[in-house]
Amino acid sequence: MIISKCVSRIEESITLATTAKAKAMKAQGIDVVGLSAGEPDFDTPENIKQAAIKAINEGFTKYTPTPGIPELRKAIAAKFKRDNGLEYKPEEIIVGCGAKHSILIAIMTLVDEGDEVIIPTPYWVSYPEMVKIAGGTPVILETSARNNLKVTAEELKKSITPKTKIFILNSPSNPSGMVYSREELLALVKVLKDTNINIISDEIYEKILYDGAEHHSIASLDPQIFSRTITVNGVSKTYSMTGWRIGYCAGPLEVIKAMGKLQSQEISNPCSISQAATIEALNGPQDSVKMMVKAFDERRRYLVDRLNALQGVKCVRPSGAFYAFPDFSAHYGRKWNGKVITGSVAMCEFLLDEMKVAVVPGVGFGADNHLRLSYATSMQAITKALDRIEEGLKKLS
Ligand SMILES: Cc1ncc(COP(=O)(O)O)c(C=O)c1O
Repeated sequence: MIISKCVSRIEESITLATTAKAKAMKAQGIDVVGLSAGEPDFDTPENIKQAAIKAINEGFTKYTPTPGIPELRKAIAAKFKRDNGLEYKPEEIIVGCGAKHSILIAIMTLVDEGDEVIIPTPYWVSYPEMVKIAGGTPVILETSARNNLKVTAEELKKSITPKTKIFILNSPSNPSGMVYSREELLALVKVLKDTNINIISDEIYEKILYDGAEHHSIASLDPQIFSRTITVNGVSKTYSMTGWRIGYCAGPLEVIKAMGKLQSQEISNPCSISQAATIEALNGPQDSVKMMVKAFDERRRYLVDRLNALQGVKCVRPSGAFYAFPDFSAHYGRKWNGKVITGSVAMCEFLLDEMKVAVVPGVGFGADNHLRLSYATSMQAITKALDRIEEGLKKLS
């Protein structure tokens, strides 16, 4: 059988592949410390689980409307208003099987063959591949360490061509943990306002913030930008619901309707039980979120301090999400067992095979100088991983 060109031109998710390799090593009894997964280590809060159990017991186990049940779309509209200052009607919202799915159908709905999509580095691994699935061209916009890996207005302006269809913004960022301030967003708005470019704003980490950082939705800053933005969010990260597969997005009615058409031929609807649980997540008590962020914060401080204490390693303190994205390039060119550490992939292979620590190579995020370490895991695991990395770097010649 011949695999289609569409699937042949995309790469497998490097984060999922690294996590799978680490899990397979663990299953063989090897003591691997995993800092690669992009999911909170906490259980889904009890009130959310109970809402799902109630839905099952009440027989809420059938197909639902394609874009999600009205009650959930209403809860999402209320959330956008309350948290983001965004006025969306329930019809302007579509619920998908995770934000990953929602972003893919948004891209497939907007992108034609030859359209360009601007993706600043470091980017979430899936964006360029999603653009390729839709037949578009990912335009990778290099950002600089000088601006803490955030795109500036000048950089954005330079990357725009007549073919630019979408600009993808992700704040707080996976993998860098950087959060765009209101001023930084306003500078981008100024550039985008003079164009007809659409914006996909991926805000899935909006609640995971530290050091007083604030999240702003770009769509809330300007009415023209609002009319061209798809705002994406979900429950995976905020409520530790990665397995429930619920994400959602909001945008102009005609786009959301077109996405619904695609979704109707694709998944029919997101899981009914997960939708019921999501209503409780959004409308119910929020104290579990605070508890998780507090724990992440303690781990973040420890991890970043330990990373910066490693010789040659530089790590900007992230102010959102649950990843550190240190620069390890000072160690590239060094050797282990006669093999040269040529870049982030070789460094991660060394750390996994030799030191039994799973972290993700930066090259998958468009930044080969870096490695991504998730701190959504126990303090004990982080300590053990850093001890091993420290020891590992000393072994390099
Ligand atoms: C930046 C970003 N966007 C979207 C997603 C997708 O999340 P989900 O599909 O679980 O809602 C992730 C998950 O890792 C992410 O890091």
